Amino acid sequence: MQKLITASAIGLVLALGASGTMAAPDWSKTPSKKITVFYPGVSPIEWVTKGTEHGGARGLKKGETCAGCHDEETADMGKKMVTGQKIEPKPIKGKAGSIPVTVQAAHDGTNLYLRFSWKQPAGGAEKMDKDNQVKLAVMFEDNKVERANQSGCWETCHQDARTMPDAKDDKKTKYIVGSDVKSGKFYDLIQWASKGAKHDGYVADKRVMEGGKALVDAKGEKKGDEWVVTFTRKLAGGGEGDIAMTAGKTYNFGFAIHDDYTVGRFHQVSLGYTLGIDAKADITAAKQ
Ligand code: HEC
Repeated sequence: MQKLITASAIGLVLALGASGTMAAPDWSKTPSKKITVFYPGVSPIEWVTKGTEHGGARGLKKGETCAGCHDEETADMGKKMVTGQKIEPKPIKGKAGSIPVTVQAAHDGTNLYLRFSWKQPAGGAEKMDKDNQVKLAVMFEDNKVERANQSGCWETCHQDARTMPDAKDDKKTKYIVGSDVKSGKFYDLIQWASKGAKHDGYVADKRVMEGGKALVDAKGEKKGDEWVVTFTRKLAGGGEGDIAMTAGKTYNFGFAIHDDYTVGRFHQVSLGYTLGIDAKADITAAKQ
C-alpha cells in the first residue's frame, strides 16, 4: 500500500512538473483581438511618407499612427489594392483583399505564447512558393527604431526590395534605415511555414532568418477551413536579434500572412500594434 501511494505521488509530481514547464495557455479563457490583415499593394515606406502620394503623410509626420487612421478600414483598403484600383500594377486574380485574424497572447513567466486563427480565404493563383501554402511571420520592436511605434512593420518595407516593381536586385530583402543590432535598432522576427519549417531571425540592414534563440516552438494546422498557428517564445530572448521582454512593458508588433503560396510583397499584412506583457496595450499577454 505504502509503495502504491509513493508511486502515484511521484506520478502526480511528474505530471505537474511537465505541465509546469510547458504550460500552454488555456486559449478558451484567453482574451482575443480581431486584426484584419490586408493586401498592401506597392506601399513602401517611401510612398507612405510622401505627401504628394499618400493622404496620411502629413498626419504621420505629426505623430499619428497608421492604425489610428486606418484600423477600422483595412478590409476596404485591401480591396482597393488587390483589385488594382490603387497602387498595384500586377493584381492577382481571385486573391483575398483582407483576412480577419483572431489574435491571442499569454505568458507564464518564462514563455510568451501567441495564437493566430483565421478562415482560409479563396485563392487559386499561380503558386510562387510551391512548398508552402501559408507562412506567418511576426515582428517585434523594442521602442528603439524611429517611428516604429507609429508605422509597425512599414519601417522594413522599401521600394527597392525584391518583388517590388522598382527592385534592381532580386536578393534584396527587407531592411531598416539606421539599424544597429547592438543598440536594439532592429526588428525581431519569427516565422512559421506550413511545410513545417520555423525561423527565428531579425531585420536590421538586411533580413536574417536564423540565429535567434528565443523561439521554442511554432506550430500550425488547418482544421476544416480554419488555420490555427501558435508560437512559443522565450520572454528573455537570448540570441542575436532577440528582444528581451519583461513584465510591465509594451513592444511594437505586427504580423503578416503569406496566403495562397505567395512570396515577397504578395502577402497580407497588419498595421502596427502594441503587445504588452502584463501591461495595457492593443494586445495584452497576461500571466496564466
Ligand atoms: C492622418 C491619417 C493617416 C495616417 C497616419 C496614415 N494614413 Fe494611410 N491614408 C490616409 C488617407 C487619407 C489615405 C487616402 C484614402 C483615400 O484615397 O480614400 C490613405 C491611404 C493609404 C493607403 C492606400 C489605400 C487606400 O485606402 O487609399 C495605404 C496602403 C495606406 N494609407 C497605408 C498607411 C500606412 C502603412 C500608414 C502608416 C505608416 C498610414 N497609411 C498612415 C490617412 C492616413
